[in-house]
Amino acid sequence: MSVKQGADARIRILFVCLGNICRSPTAEGVTRSLASKEAPELTLELDSAGTAAYHAGSAPDARTVAAAARRGYELGHLRARVVSPEDFALFDLILAMDQENLTVLRRRAPASAQPRLRLFLEFAPEQERREVPDPYYGGANGFEDVLDLTEAAARGLLAYLRRSARAV
Ligand code: 4NP
Repeated sequence: MSVKQGADARIRILFVCLGNICRSPTAEGVTRSLASKEAPELTLELDSAGTAAYHAGSAPDARTVAAAARRGYELGHLRARVVSPEDFALFDLILAMDQENLTVLRRRAPASAQPRLRLFLEFAPEQERREVPDPYYGGANGFEDVLDLTEAAARGLLAYLRRSARAV
């Protein structure tokens, strides 16, 4: 896997879950916050979207916003949207929160975009799990679990992008 950087040094990353109100906005907000503090040399364009449109236009789930705020991440201004065909041309990496959403993305994406579709937790190889579990119908602990996994994967992603930036 390599992230190509042309004359425009921005690296565009899209995080994808089902509803775009719990996991992927968490990934977007946490990665943005950690990048600004820990990798300010990277110029990132981060966004998130859902494979389903149920919650399009909505703010993130109140439980997601509250759990993130307790760790200092501000997510309340984000609004859900569905993945669009243009996303497959625009983003350098499209990171799915679980295998089911990756499968949906693989079905919808053109051949040219397939190498840019990955699981987010591939960037946290020290974690035993490869999927960020859907917290929507579970208890409060699910939202903490999403944050723990997301912080680990975001740090792994930033380390990978730093290595890639040095290699070009
Ligand atoms: P997300 O969580 O995919 O992490 O945003 C969900 C949000 C809503 C639903 C399922 C999962 N739902 O069924 O409405």
